[in-house]
Amino acid sequence: MTTLIINIKELLQIREASIKKVSGVEMAILPSLKNAYLLIENDLISDFGLMENCPKIIPNKSIDATGKMVLPSWCDSHTHIVYAGNREQEFVDRINGLSYEEIANRGGGILNSAKKLNETSEEEIYNQSKQRLEEIMRLGTGAVEIKSGYGLTVEGELKMLRVIKKLSENYPIKVKATFLGAHAFPSEYKENHSGYLDLITNEMLPKIAAENLAEYIDVFCEKGYFSVEETERILVAGKQFGLIPKIHVNQFNTIGGIAVGVKHHALTVDHLEVLTDEDIAILKGSDTMPVALPSCSYFLSIPYTPARKIINAGLPLAIATDFNPGSTPSGNMNFVVATACIKMKMTPEEAINAATINGAFAMGISHSHGSISVGKKANLIITKPITSYYQLPYAFGSNLIDMVILEGKEI
Ligand code: NIG
Ligand code: FE
Repeated sequence: MTTLIINIKELLQIREASIKKVSGVEMAILPSLKNAYLLIENDLISDFGLMENCPKIIPNKSIDATGKMVLPSWCDSHTHIVYAGNREQEFVDRINGLSYEEIANRGGGILNSAKKLNETSEEEIYNQSKQRLEEIMRLGTGAVEIKSGYGLTVEGELKMLRVIKKLSENYPIKVKATFLGAHAFPSEYKENHSGYLDLITNEMLPKIAAENLAEYIDVFCEKGYFSVEETERILVAGKQFGLIPKIHVNQFNTIGGIAVGVKHHALTVDHLEVLTDEDIAILKGSDTMPVALPSCSYFLSIPYTPARKIINAGLPLAIATDFNPGSTPSGNMNFVVATACIKMKMTPEEAINAATINGAFAMGISHSHGSISVGKKANLIITKPITSYYQLPYAFGSNLIDMVILEGKEI
């Protein structure tokens, strides 16, 4: 099956397949070709170039992209889209003056979602979650990381991870699974932290590894959640089962989570709404990718991750949605790109790099996703006719996507 896209106004994010991420000043560059073609063979990009060199072939399918941009589909490296029900009541409680922390302290928040999840069948959770997955695919996401963490029981965590696996098998979007049993302490372990850590390490991890249900391990390292010492214990246990760390840190407080993540070669450290110079210095000596979640800051009205400070220090940065029922009930990467520009003062080039190639790195898939490169997956966004790619963040709230192609097929 060959598909030829012709007359592309601008083909964005063209790179050698060997580029795995971009850092610092490199993030300001978005390599592109104007008046281009792109050839897809089956599920892969097989060729691209200027229209004047377009191959004279008769493809199975031809798409005329006159006036339109083509770019790699978004890579959303941090989500919690498998959950049951919603937390709209907490949203209204926050409008009426309660904080996210106060809601959590009353047994709401993550524990509220955990209660709902444990009361809901696997089939029902799958049906609710697949709608979110289908929605984000239509919004241009072609690769997504999904975390567990609303089970907080052996059965609940396994149920979530099995749903993630089933989604991965049934949809053309690339899915990466992360075990986040250490998302919050269940109330019965409030005074018995080591009991819950034992449950994670002695019961959850062996079962997850036996069924091969996760590639990454996450911990919510934060005051009132998991301490730095507890985080380290879980990361070490996860590594014994072959899981790579990818952790929640510095959302509300800086307690040393970045240092422990870097020490254990975390692929990513995510959130970073509060970040010290020392944290930046630690990241500079590492391969760990910082990940910002701008729509979480937007929804909770908390500080935005200091993107300029991170990029100006020469570091890479990825951006992701954090799609979850409590802090970010949205999986719209277009909004994330716009918010990164509007609120974090990233340039459009930096935001698109952060949402594609660096997002792919943050899921360990930048060899196959995140850029327009020969041999990579044909995961593409074709925009509506637009004046320039600046429109993507500028016209925030407008849907500028005309077509999404995943693994070579229009969805
Ligand atoms: O990334 N910070 C921790 N976890 C999620 C929110 C979880 C929730 O409120 O359900 C986050 O924001
Ligand atoms: Fe999160």
